[in-house]
Amino acid sequence: MSDPKVLKGQAEWLPSSAISFDQKKQVEASRLSWRKWAVVALALCTIFSLSRASNVLQVRIHGSGAVDAAQMCPQPAPLSPEKHQVLWKSLSSTFSTDAFRLRAVDLLAGAVRIPTQSYDQMGPIGEDPRWEAFTPFHKYLDRAFPRIHSTLDLAKVNTYGLVYHWKGSDESLKPLLLTAHQDVVPVNPDTYDDWVHPPFSGYFDGELVWGRGSRDDKSGLISIMSAIELMLERNFQPLRGIVLAFGFDEEGASSLGAYLLSTFGENAFAMLIDEGGKISEQYGGVFAVPSVAEKGYIDVRLELTAPGGHSSVPPAHTTIGMLAQLLVHYENNPVVTQLKRETPMYWHAECLAAHAPEIPTIVKKMMRKAAISDKALYTAQEELFKDPTFKALVETTQAIDIISGGVKSNALPENAMAVINHRIATDSSVSEVKERATGLFKSIAANFNLSYTAFGLSVTGDEPGYGTLSLSDAWGTALDPAPITPVSEDAAPFQLLSGTIKATYNSHRSLSEDGITVIPSLVSGNTGTS
Ligand SMILES: *[C@@H]1O[C@H](CO)[C@@H](O)[C@H](O)[C@H]1NC(C)=O
Ligand SMILES: [Zn+2]
Repeated sequence: MSDPKVLKGQAEWLPSSAISFDQKKQVEASRLSWRKWAVVALALCTIFSLSRASNVLQVRIHGSGAVDAAQMCPQPAPLSPEKHQVLWKSLSSTFSTDAFRLRAVDLLAGAVRIPTQSYDQMGPIGEDPRWEAFTPFHKYLDRAFPRIHSTLDLAKVNTYGLVYHWKGSDESLKPLLLTAHQDVVPVNPDTYDDWVHPPFSGYFDGELVWGRGSRDDKSGLISIMSAIELMLERNFQPLRGIVLAFGFDEEGASSLGAYLLSTFGENAFAMLIDEGGKISEQYGGVFAVPSVAEKGYIDVRLELTAPGGHSSVPPAHTTIGMLAQLLVHYENNPVVTQLKRETPMYWHAECLAAHAPEIPTIVKKMMRKAAISDKALYTAQEELFKDPTFKALVETTQAIDIISGGVKSNALPENAMAVINHRIATDSSVSEVKERATGLFKSIAANFNLSYTAFGLSVTGDEPGYGTLSLSDAWGTALDPAPITPVSEDAAPFQLLSGTIKATYNSHRSLSEDGITVIPSLVSGNTGTS
């Protein structure tokens, strides 16, 4: 186990580029997943009370041979506050009481009961009445968290976005940014009867709170609020400021991003923690898997046109037939995927190899040599890719999800179209996907004498063809993979989060040793959830 004291004095512990805030994309970029009731409070305690001096940081060295587990995926020691130990202990014991449990259940259930649904196609705020669902939610927060509302500054951004600012006593320290979203995925009214407990009941069965948003993401929002409310009840005053930003739809997130940028400036935050995964039990181990990266995203639209006419005298290929050939060719040529070193899923694999008791021996063995041996890396990859989820997180995925064309059984279809969804690997880019797609369709387009344009550029020149093929970013929603949060031993934010997760997890269990391993992972979409 490495030394816990990786964190230098408060002013120093963040490399300013570690987790930066720039625009909406980056808000979503560095999401580190966590959402246990206690974690945020304890994290706050920890963050604001670290004052010990640093030992020399250990540097991770891949020598000439195999490395051992501790070197492959070093784990910081559990990290609990020193300066605020009394507060930490008192909060820890409060969180363990039945009274607090019931209070937490009430707070979450109350939030779930307010149906803050956001839909795909919504009119502007002020015109579309469905937005008004957020007003009762704000009133609820007002009532449920009185101390927050009398102590923190609150700005409403684009009417329903919420930004709370808890000012720190030392304004030279960059604040911490915690985010969550107020909205939930809509529930189709036809499916109400299929719910075990109605989607907006917030029903508590003694163990779980039921309903839409109970996990995604009102649990996150309410846990952040509860933690701060409890700290205010104990008169805690943070040294470092804390900013909470709660979006309500994708557009809300971008206006929040713009607001934060104009209010706090670029690179203004020490660390950003957003929603994400949960504790996962796999290969015989218990893992916390904060996401340190987000894949990119693009929906590629293929549009074909060709002359119409009566189908009694048809050409050899209609737009639909041509489209079918293009799609088959695309599916037959998926992106060749390799697990590359220094990518989040490589780190993930190293951590599984180092810490998962039941990971196949071949992975364990090969990952120890993978840093210096391509062959070992390839062998490990072959085994790891047997898990389709793992493989999908490594690769640029492609899925043909929409197709349409033709209107009448005896009329030649003048148009046909399809949309292919891509989740872009963290080591690739939107432009790489565009280039690849453009190239893949070239020869078929030529065979069919189609005049071909791709993403606004003509591929075949100005010569008119028999028909046209055009590729485009279907909805203009393409996003490059997000910047990757550093996870090395000198990446203070990740180490701080990891140590805090461990201390928190262990504090509620009687364990003789550290009960949880923290391993980096990533989010498979970059679709603006918050
Ligand atoms: C392609 O189609 C155009 C327009 O119909 C035609 O002028 C041209 O001769 C065709 N080219 C080939 C190689 O068939
Ligand atoms: Zn979410």
